[in-house]
Amino acid sequence: MQFDFDKLIERRGTHCVKWDKPMADDVIPMWVADMDFEVAPAITDALRKRVEHGVFGYVAVPDEFFQATTGWFDWRHQWHINHDWIQYTIGVVPALAVIVRALTCPGDKVMIMTPVYNCFFSAVQNNDRQLVECPLIYEDATYRIDFDEMERKMCNGEVKLLILCNPHNPACRVWTVDELKRIGDICRRNGVMVLSDEIHCEFVYPGHQYTPFASIEGHQEFTVTCVSPSKAFNIAGLQTALIVCANSEWRNRIDQVLCASEVNMLNPFGVEALIAAYNYGAAWMDALNDYIYGNYQLLHDTFASHLSHLTVTRLEGTYLAWVDCRVMGMTSEQLTQHLLDNARVMINSGSIYGMPGEGFIRINLATQRSRVTEALNRMIPVLKG
Ligand SMILES: Cc1ncc(COP(=O)(O)O)c(C=O)c1O
Repeated sequence: MQFDFDKLIERRGTHCVKWDKPMADDVIPMWVADMDFEVAPAITDALRKRVEHGVFGYVAVPDEFFQATTGWFDWRHQWHINHDWIQYTIGVVPALAVIVRALTCPGDKVMIMTPVYNCFFSAVQNNDRQLVECPLIYEDATYRIDFDEMERKMCNGEVKLLILCNPHNPACRVWTVDELKRIGDICRRNGVMVLSDEIHCEFVYPGHQYTPFASIEGHQEFTVTCVSPSKAFNIAGLQTALIVCANSEWRNRIDQVLCASEVNMLNPFGVEALIAAYNYGAAWMDALNDYIYGNYQLLHDTFASHLSHLTVTRLEGTYLAWVDCRVMGMTSEQLTQHLLDNARVMINSGSIYGMPGEGFIRINLATQRSRVTEALNRMIPVLKG
């Protein structure tokens, strides 16, 4: 293999949330969405060159940054973005809060499709907007959208914004063109804006295809998209994210909130890493997808052989496995504690993604195969009963 994803990297002692927060040395951390792999060599080379310069003052974001972004989405995802549609900020989570503030008013209703990434809740509630949930339907180890419920909850004109997660964390879905069109039709009919968080867009497995929501004909007029190389290329600590919006009036409003919140500056490392990732990272990304899918297959087959009372949700995208443990009769918090105490494996509790996540657990698969194997061996006796 050209890239060695099996290489064990010691992350403890590097001020790393994922590994240093659990504290105990015997814990395998499979929680926060952060990968244990070294980044693509092109990124390390670009950063090394930048470090060797030795001066790290304020950054003027260069044209290359925008060209690398538009080029990547153009050839890899057939999404044609104009350079001037792009704004940058320090993370997708800050971007979500900024966009909610820019496009809606206090008290407005914002819809999310639960279970969903926990910061969708805080982006709405911490900004004094009201949450409206449109729960996904769980059936046959996968999720689908309740379009009737979505329409019913939007039709009185009170919902102003839908926050979409495409691909969806933690539901493991990569929404199809047909599903995205139906969401778009319902939103357009009811005057609802769409904020599409597409941070997981590079993790897509055989048989599935990521489609940018805004790339569908007619969608770009009412859509703001957030993307970032952070999740895909494992550079979340470099704090670089992009907001893509074709609507110039909305862009002005977003720009005002970005400036007022003072989150409109990037750091030199994030800029260099993005350029290297989008210009030279494709082969690494493809190899990584194969590796992570192998981890998923291992987890899936292990559960099927040893823990068949639990259901592993079919993984179409993201590197986060989602397991239905409701038959065990424990809350997600109890399951999380049980796995930590007795298997020394740290996972995320499903209930942090909303009530429909209760009884589920989320397992981060972006680690070396030997660690996944060890974690599964420890989990089998603990989850057996
Ligand atoms: C859907 C989604 N959006 C955003 C983020 C985090 O984005 P950032 O680190 O750029 O703030 C995550 C991290 O897991 C995520 O799953």
